[in-house]
Amino acid sequence: MSQTQTEATVKLNRYSSTLTQEVSNPAAQAMLYGIGLHEEDMAKPQIGIASAGYDGNPCNIHLNGLAAYVKKGINDTGLVGLVFNTIGVSDGMTNGNDGMSYSLPSRDLIADSIETVVSAQWYDGVIAVVGCDKNMPGAMMAIGRLNRPAIMVYGGTIRSGSYKGQKLDIVSAFEAYGRKVAGTISDEDYKGVIQNSIPGAGACGGMYTANTMASSIEAMGMSLPFSSTFPATHEGKQEECRKIGAAMLNLLKQNLLPRDIMTREAIENALTVVMALGGSTNAVLHYLAIAKSVGVPLTLEDVQAISDRTPYLADLKPSGKYYMEDMLAIGGVPGVMKYLYGQGLIHGDCMTVTGKTVAENLEDTPDLNFETQSIIRPISNPIKKTGHIQILYGNLAQQGSVAKITGKEGEKFEGIAKVCEKEEQLIEFVQKGEIKPGHVCVIRYEGPKGGPGMPEMLKPTSAIMGAGLGDKVALITDGRFSGGTHGFVVGHITPEAHEGGNLALVRDGDRITIDAINNVLHLHVSDEELAERRQSWVAPPPAAEKGVLRKYIKLVSSASEGCVTDEV
Ligand code: FES
Repeated sequence: MSQTQTEATVKLNRYSSTLTQEVSNPAAQAMLYGIGLHEEDMAKPQIGIASAGYDGNPCNIHLNGLAAYVKKGINDTGLVGLVFNTIGVSDGMTNGNDGMSYSLPSRDLIADSIETVVSAQWYDGVIAVVGCDKNMPGAMMAIGRLNRPAIMVYGGTIRSGSYKGQKLDIVSAFEAYGRKVAGTISDEDYKGVIQNSIPGAGACGGMYTANTMASSIEAMGMSLPFSSTFPATHEGKQEECRKIGAAMLNLLKQNLLPRDIMTREAIENALTVVMALGGSTNAVLHYLAIAKSVGVPLTLEDVQAISDRTPYLADLKPSGKYYMEDMLAIGGVPGVMKYLYGQGLIHGDCMTVTGKTVAENLEDTPDLNFETQSIIRPISNPIKKTGHIQILYGNLAQQGSVAKITGKEGEKFEGIAKVCEKEEQLIEFVQKGEIKPGHVCVIRYEGPKGGPGMPEMLKPTSAIMGAGLGDKVALITDGRFSGGTHGFVVGHITPEAHEGGNLALVRDGDRITIDAINNVLHLHVSDEELAERRQSWVAPPPAAEKGVLRKYIKLVSSASEGCVTDEV
């Protein structure tokens, strides 16, 4: 190695050189020889490869394999790739509050674990190989905190399943359950749907939370172009992994850091893509948290402003027809970004992990063809003129709430409260036929502290859909909704019931208005009456006595603040 090369390498290994170059670190050096490094490797930059791979979930089952491709690409580029694992929790397998309470906390555990390993082991850069819903925001929060060269590799979307000629995905399985509850599906067909919905590796296939976060993180500039578009089993995914080494070397050489990329404008680009693609409401929570990790001020008002200026264009599931896998044929997320950029909706001068700006990355991207494809509508004929995500305020949500209004269900709902303490009670009510058209189902004590962990209302929304009530009732909660949810739903209500928010004071029969035109969530009960009800309200005991959920309850901020746990 020449003198020039040695100097260049030492510059690139600014963290790991503490271990590998200082004579006072013999144990660390002995251990690095012990894992198979040779003398010529010792001055090379070390790159931590954080894999959320584990066997128990299709979204994550292939990630260790992808991490191995990444490692090869890293090593072939003259860097040292070192794989470590972080955790994952499958939202599809959490089963009600008991499991789902761990889902959102897992995001922060992922962030904490990546931050811990990369910091403690002195890695010069980090690649996150991630798949399921909380993996991506967790990794980005760690990357934001660490501010060392970093790239995210998305595990990729799943292919669709099929039964009796019908395309299926995970939401088909949830909705089959709803139809079973309602008695509108045979046992044989129920089994057929369950056994055929998931054909292999990959994240849930609609524009649900995983694909929402992957698409928008690509738009934010933190993954290579097409990372969110290549399905998990597509050869392009392995190719992407192999290219990561060269991309990381370039980031190191340019000293291009996450905070140079994840700027205010880049986060706006991410949220613009969420709106245009009809992404999950969970993105609001996650981008509030990601923005905090890089010190960018972002509020619910900012999210509303982006929604106000961005049309909803994509006919993707859950409310539309197509799957994420269908995006590949029409030009993928880069195609959508190029169109949005051409319409002045995307900031083109933001830097990305390619070392080029968004506009430069898009230079050779073919234009969307509005003659031959019908997944992405032109701005002249949108599904909705503004974004589907609406931030509502009112006496039921003084600090905000997040609604998903695609326009298909109308923009205003006025109805009568049917109160459910926890989601299980709503399932019971559906089974007994007690949920009627015109009801506003209120599911409370499901917030960040009350749930705890702000569970997603997967079963309640499926049960309502299955009972054929999807367009006849509304659902409001201090919990969250799955990215697969459609219908008139408002979540993330803050302050949450457990903290004494007015949601805790709602009674059966109260009138509630959800107005997504004026962005209001209003309980038609006077302030005097609410004050009187408050006299008899007793705060429930903590929802967990010990362990990780107890820690979470103590640390977590409100949904309107992104549910972060490191700002106390
Ligand atoms: Fe992993 Fe849906 S359960 S993406």
